[in-house]
This record gives sequence, structure tokens and C-alpha cells, in this order.
Amino acid sequence: MNKHASQALTEVVSNKKVGAYHHMVFSVGQMAAHSKPGNFVAISVGGPGTSMILRRAFAIYRASDRENGVGYIELVVAPHGQGSTWLTSRQSGDLVDLVGPLGTAFGIPTEPVRALLVGGGYGSAPLFGLSEILKGRGCRVDMVLGASSAMKIYAPLEGKRSVNSLTITTDDGSAGIPGKVSDVLAELIENNQIDIIYSCGPMGMLEAITKIAVEKDVLHQCAIEEAMACGVGICMTCVLPIRGEDGVVRMLRSCIDGPVVDGEKVIWDSKREIPEGTWGS
Ligand SMILES: Cc1cc2nc3c(=O)[nH]c(=O)nc-3n(C[C@H](O)[C@H](O)[C@H](O)COP(=O)(O)OP(=O)(O)OC[C@H]3O[C@@H](n4cnc5c(N)ncnc54)[C@H](O)[C@@H]3O)c2cc1C
Ligand code: FES
Repeated sequence: MNKHASQALTEVVSNKKVGAYHHMVFSVGQMAAHSKPGNFVAISVGGPGTSMILRRAFAIYRASDRENGVGYIELVVAPHGQGSTWLTSRQSGDLVDLVGPLGTAFGIPTEPVRALLVGGGYGSAPLFGLSEILKGRGCRVDMVLGASSAMKIYAPLEGKRSVNSLTITTDDGSAGIPGKVSDVLAELIENNQIDIIYSCGPMGMLEAITKIAVEKDVLHQCAIEEAMACGVGICMTCVLPIRGEDGVVRMLRSCIDGPVVDGEKVIWDSKREIPEGTWGS
């Protein structure tokens, strides 16, 4: 588990609706200092006496660490079911129980590289902070944001400002190029001579990106969003078959061994079953 994780009752500083999402800021103290792009938080939802006993996972969009132990974490939340709708109805000054930072973070290259960042829906959240770090290291950063419709592309203007080039795709063609992010990847990889892809979004999108990354021989780090019930390595609901450096497939917990993993190592076509030959099966 992330050795910096802690639990805190945090104050909601602001909650603004942005398109189909809510941009929420929480005062988290020193937790912000240890939060990196790719990490997530697990939030207790529903308030006292709720039947929603499981925490909900949200990727950290940004973390800002001020002096004297003051720090903020920002999230981009889609009101989806009961838990996320409860969260997005919190107001400034409300208190929320939050555990974080959790999980692994995106690996940052030591040398300047050409990076392609690919986000699906709210999956673009951790990519903006990542983009700033990569640019600070002298990397070229191109970005692709995709969603079902224009309303579900998070902060396209911010995307445009923080990267060298921004491509938008929507399933219904209401913004950018009609189609999926995977439709434009091969050309972008070739034209911009991409060395590494960083991605975050639905599992089907990550699988499609991995296929293209393997064909084009490009590294691919992805932040997976497997269903998580505890977020801290206890319940085993989030396990995924992943091939290790030794070639052996193991069922790993995406909440503590991920969410950021090497896309090429994930056995994407396991159809939620344990593949034959998996360690311990
Ligand atoms: C690493 C990660 C990062 C994420 N980042 C974001 C983000 O930045 N923004 C965002 O809007 N959403 C994000 N999500 C998705 C978000 O966690 C879900 O949308 C949220 O949990 C929905 O909760 P709900 O109560 O609204 O929905 P519901 O569908 O009512 O409840 C979903 C909850 O049910 C539980 N659950 C689901 N499947 C199982 C299972 N198989 N076994 C046991 N329990 C299960 C989980 O606790 C899950 O959180 C992320 C998810 C993960 C895993
Ligand atoms: S979510 Fe419980 S072990 Fe990963």
C-alpha cells in the first residue's frame, strides 16, 4: 500500500459544475505533499448512518502543497450512482472522510521524451498534472481527450494550454473528430514520433490503446479503473491478471499494485476469469 496514505476528515473548499462533471477542492493538509499523478483517494460517502459502507475511488486531478502543512487536492467527479451524487452535492465547508494518496503513480522519465497523454471522459483528470511535470522535464507532450459527447470532455481549454497539441474525439461527433481516441492514435504516434503513452479511462479504451502501443512498439503506462470495494488491498475485488518481469501471470490488486501499470503486462482478454497457468490457480 502507498506508504504515505493517511485518513483525514477534510473540508470541501469549493465545488463547481464543469460540463458533465464537478470540480471539487478539498483541504487535505500534508496529504497533498505526497500525492502524485496516477494516485487516487478513497472517499467515505453517504454520511453517518448510511448503508453505503464502501468508499468510492477518485483519481487525484491536482495536488498543491503550501507551507505550514496547508495543502489541497482537486478531483473531477462524475455524478454517476448514489455515492458520487452524494459527494457532488457537498458544499463549501462540509467535511468529508478521505483516505489518500493511494496506489501507484505514473513513472516520470529522467530524460526528455515525446509523450502522448490519452484520457477518456473523467479519465483525463490525472493527465493535466502529469503534463505539467513532463513539460518541466523538457518533454514534448501531445494529448488526446475522448468522450461520448462534447459535454463529457473535461476542461478542453486547459488541455490546449498545457500541451503541445490537443486532439479531441467524440463518439457522436459533437466536438473534434467523430470516433474513438484509438482511431487517431496510430497517426499521432507516427507523426510526433512518440516514445511513451500515458493513459487513463475505461478498461475497453485502455485495452485498445495497449494493442496499438504494442504494434507501434511504444511504451504504455495506463491507470486502470477496475471496480474497487475497499481501495486499500483487503477485499480482492479489484484483482487483474498481470504478467510479471519473470513471465509469470499473477492476480494483482489494482488498488495497491496499480492503478498505474504497464499496459503490455495486463491480460486484457481474461473476461474476468483467472487465466490458465496463473500463479496459485
Ligand atoms: C482508481 C479509480 C479512479 C477513479 N477516478 C474517478 C474520477 O476521477 N472521477 C470519477 O467521477 N470517477 C472515478 N472513478 C469511478 C468512481 O469510483 C465510481 O464512479 C464511483 O465509485 C461510483 O460510485 P457510486 O456510488 O456513484 O456508483 P454505484 O455504481 O452506485 O457504486 C459503485 C461502487 O460499488 C462498489 N462496487 C462496484 N463493483 C463492485 C464489486 N464487484 N464488488 C464489490 N463492490 C463493488 C464499489 O465500492 C464502487 O465504488 C474511479 C474509479 C477507480 C477505481
Ligand atoms: S479494492 Fe479491495 S483489494 Fe483492491
